[in-house]
Amino acid sequence: MDYTNKLLCFLFVAVFMASVTEARKRNATHIQFYMHDTPGGPNPSAVRVAGQPINATASGMGAMFGFGSIYVMDNALTMTPEVNSTLIGRAQGLYAVSSQEGEFSLLMTLTYNFVSGAYNGSSLSIVGRNPVMNEVREMPVVGGTGVFRLARGFALAKTHSMNQVDAIIGYNVTVIPYY
Ligand SMILES: *[C@@H]1O[C@H](CO)[C@@H](O)[C@H](O)[C@H]1NC(C)=O
Ligand SMILES: *[C@@H]1O[C@H](CO)[C@@H](O)[C@H](O)[C@H]1NC(C)=O
Ligand SMILES: *[C@@H]1O[C@H](CO)[C@@H](O)[C@H](O)[C@H]1NC(C)=O
Ligand SMILES: *[C@@H]1O[C@H](CO)[C@@H](O)[C@H](O)[C@H]1NC(C)=O
Ligand SMILES: *[C@@H]1O[C@H](CO)[C@@H](O)[C@H](O)[C@H]1NC(C)=O
Repeated sequence: MDYTNKLLCFLFVAVFMASVTEARKRNATHIQFYMHDTPGGPNPSAVRVAGQPINATASGMGAMFGFGSIYVMDNALTMTPEVNSTLIGRAQGLYAVSSQEGEFSLLMTLTYNFVSGAYNGSSLSIVGRNPVMNEVREMPVVGGTGVFRLARGFALAKTHSMNQVDAIIGYNVTVIPYY
C-alpha cells in the first residue's frame, strides 16, 4: 500500500468510528430518579458497619460521618422525591468516608437494581468519588447487566433535601448502550 492509500484507509476508519460514536450518543438512555438515603431513625436504610469511634462533640459532616467509616445501603429509588411515589429500583452497595481533610467526600461503590418499567431486572454499576457538599456530583457508570450489559455512562447527583443525616438525592443517569 502506498502512502495515499494508507491515508485514505485511516480517514475511512476515523470517519466510521466517529459516526459509530455519534450513533451511540443519539441512542443514549436518560434515567431520572430519587434516592432515599436514611442512615438515621429507627429503620435505617444505610448502616455504619466499620470505622473509628465517632466524636460526638465535634461538628460538621466529617465528624458526623468520621473518616474511614463504611456504610452499607439498600436505598429506595423512586420516580419523584416523595418516598411513597413509584418504586423504580434500589441502590444497593457501600459508601465510605474517604476524605481526611479539605472537601468532604465519599467513595461510592453501588449498584442500581431496577424493579419496574423497561429496565426491570437490569442493573447499573457505579464507582466514583462523591463530594456530597457540592451542588452537582458526577460519578462514572462502569457497566451493567440485562439491557445495560457492557454499558458506559455517568450519573449526576444533586441533593434534593436533607433532614439531619437523612437525604433525598436526585439522580440523572446517562447510559450509552453497547452494540
Ligand atoms: C439505536 O439502537 C437500536 C437497537 O437498540 C438500533 O437498531 C438503532 O440503529 C440505533 N440507532 C442509532 C441512531 O444508532
Ligand atoms: C472531639 O472534637 C472536639 C471538637 O472538635 C475536640 O475538641 C476533641 O479533642 C475531640 N475529641 C477526640 C477524642 O478526638
Ligand atoms: C404521599 O405522601 C404524601 C404525604 O407524605 C401525601 O400528600 C401524598 O398524597 C402521598 N401520595 C400517594 C400517591 O400516596
Ligand atoms: C419485574 O420483573 C419481575 C421478575 O421478572 C416480575 O416478577 C415483576 O412483576 C416485574 N415488575 C414489574 C413492575 O413489572
Ligand atoms: C436532572 O434533570 C432535570 C431536568 O431534566 C433538572 O431539573 C435537574 O436539575 C437535573 N439534576 C441533575 C442532578 O443534574
